[in-house]
Amino acid sequence: MKINKAIFPVAGLGTRFLPATKAQPKEMLPVVDKPLIQYAVEEAYAAGVREMIFVTGRHKRPIEDHFDMTFELEVALEQAGKQELLDVVRSVKPDDMECIYVRQAQALGLGHAVLCAQRLIGNEPFAVLLADDLMVGDTPVLKQMVEQFQEWRTSILAVQEVPAEHTQRYGIVAGTPVSDRMIDVSRIVEKPAPEDAPSRLGVAGRYILTPGVLFEIANQPRGVGGEIQLTDGIAGLLRREKVFAFRYEGKRYDCGSKEGFLQANVELALAHPQLGPGFREFLAGLNI
Ligand code: G1P
Repeated sequence: MKINKAIFPVAGLGTRFLPATKAQPKEMLPVVDKPLIQYAVEEAYAAGVREMIFVTGRHKRPIEDHFDMTFELEVALEQAGKQELLDVVRSVKPDDMECIYVRQAQALGLGHAVLCAQRLIGNEPFAVLLADDLMVGDTPVLKQMVEQFQEWRTSILAVQEVPAEHTQRYGIVAGTPVSDRMIDVSRIVEKPAPEDAPSRLGVAGRYILTPGVLFEIANQPRGVGGEIQLTDGIAGLLRREKVFAFRYEGKRYDCGSKEGFLQANVELALAHPQLGPGFREFLAGLNI
């Protein structure tokens, strides 16, 4: 069973980054030299996904443009003999990757965004990647999850330990460990207060889901914040199917927050093959 389709919910307003996101999608904010959305798409591609489904909204055209061919730019680079840059530009959308766009007319929640892609998903398992969560791992995190999926053949949620005072930022899962990284989920709750949280395992923005979750989302009441929550759909799915939580290997940057976004920029710049050494020297010279 392959995972060939991934949903990228990108319709959010990005209010936390205003004014930077006043006229530009937050998913296009660059971390070092690549927009956030490209990191997520590259991660999906590395996991074998070839059909990228973007659930977009108004003002999100730059995302479509980014993954489109830029004919004039390519001709100009070709004529100038700038082969390296041409390769960079062309690698944004490999030939065997398909990009599909569907609009979420109203921001009714993450579950609703996923449901907007229902007809494109059909009856296959699929991935969901939240570009706000930039994941860095020696093996790309979604690839780790696809490998687990091939073994367990059921829905898998990426999780990490979160501080008790942060449970209100995440979907929180509880369950029984079945191996050192896998947990058989018995409960999932969206953004519980620390005193109500069933554990400290928070869902990071990577999911592999069976199509049954779409039926659940379509038939559930609104959840936390009056939104149609993906977490509630997964809670519904749990009544019918097994769901596993996977402690991934790697690091997550919460690029939905300014702090996480800055941390990602600093650490990825330090790890950058060309920029890294000079940037390290610069930081050392700051004497902080
Ligand atoms: C969403 C999900 C939440 C998950 C989080 C991961 O919340 O609803 O369950 O833990 O993404 O980043 P959001 O950050 O969109 O509020």
